[in-house]
Amino acid sequence: MQLEDLIKEAFNAMDFAYVPYSQFKVGAALLTKSGKVFTGCNIENSSYGATVCAERVAIFKAVSSGEKDFDTIVIATNTNEPSPPCGICRQVMSEFSSELKIVLVNNKGKIIETNLKELLPLSFTKDNLKNGG
Ligand code: THU
Repeated sequence: MQLEDLIKEAFNAMDFAYVPYSQFKVGAALLTKSGKVFTGCNIENSSYGATVCAERVAIFKAVSSGEKDFDTIVIATNTNEPSPPCGICRQVMSEFSSELKIVLVNNKGKIIETNLKELLPLSFTKDNLKNGG
């Protein structure tokens, strides 16, 4: 799977964003190490805290389909600058793939390539639970 194709998948997913409150559409496309793609969009709720980000929708679709090893996630927005993932999504990513590549794209063709180690250094993981509290 070429990065260009994964980017297209993320923008396609963005069309399904349910954003009556923020009007801020986000699309995500997650490539697993096994070569599968899972997409997501943000889904808002009148009880705002029940809103789920596009990244987590894609990740939860993958995990609930038996896939937990991720290679790359593309996050697409229609913004002047590509938009980075929120803190909760970074934490969810870290549960499954500490080496995850993260690609931020906007509809003006700007691409920022980063990774989870850079966006969430010194993260709390399952290993910390073994330290005896
Ligand atoms: N949002 C995402 O989908 N991903 C992020 O990483 C940041 C925020 C969504 C949630 C909400 O629907 C809207 O963007 C504004 O916060």
